[in-house]
Amino acid sequence: MQLIVKPDYDTMSWAAAKIVVNIIRANTKTKLGLATGSSPQGLYGQLVEYYYERALSFSRVETFNLDEYIGLPHGHPLSYRYFMETNLFKKVNIDIGKTNFPDVYNADLSEACSNYSRMLKENVRDVQILGLGVNGHIGFNEPGTGIDTKTHVVELQKSTILANSRFFNSIEEVPKTAITMGIAEILEAEKILLLVDKKTKHDALIKLLAEGGFDSECPVTALQKHKNLTVICTREAFDGN
Ligand code: F6R
Repeated sequence: MQLIVKPDYDTMSWAAAKIVVNIIRANTKTKLGLATGSSPQGLYGQLVEYYYERALSFSRVETFNLDEYIGLPHGHPLSYRYFMETNLFKKVNIDIGKTNFPDVYNADLSEACSNYSRMLKENVRDVQILGLGVNGHIGFNEPGTGIDTKTHVVELQKSTILANSRFFNSIEEVPKTAITMGIAEILEAEKILLLVDKKTKHDALIKLLAEGGFDSECPVTALQKHKNLTVICTREAFDGN
């Protein structure tokens, strides 16, 4: 595991962007595993900057997002696809047909999960970008999730609903279910880049760094098993104050 502690959010995002840019430049075709949320937002902003400066092309990039809410209509501004479109996809030269999410609009959700699992199996990600939940979740793999899980439907925990309610008008509007990539699939990526930006995530971060083995109550500890993990965190997240 490689740990990089940066003074603040912006320097964390710049360091992450350099890694992702180098991966995109080094591959003729790049498969990116993507997360939404505030942790990677600065990284996406940096990737857009690289693109504007004509220093990076997304024409041969394909993406696979970690998760999507169930129950929001197509194009809803709080859907994860909308987040990705406004923060990255619509600002760069990516082929939108090559941006993939679990199909939460399929009437048969178990079929949607197995379709996404199959797609992930056929498309090993060169790098998986991750944020970290306060409760230790990665993707929407909440505490209690096994290390062998594949793409599945999840009931979001109260703490996650509360954390995500900052984007909605009220907590009642936050979807209670989602489809997420499983932990086993996250671990299949060639490289994992975990971004940890806030002191509220300190406890989960320390459990990962302690390398005490997998604890399903803190799903991020599964990453200890990965051969190519880079953790970039802010000083605040590392110190916890
Ligand atoms: C988002 C995702 C979540 C977030 C996590 C942290 O696609 O899968 O695991 O990465 O909840 O969210 P932020 O970055 O908003 O603090």
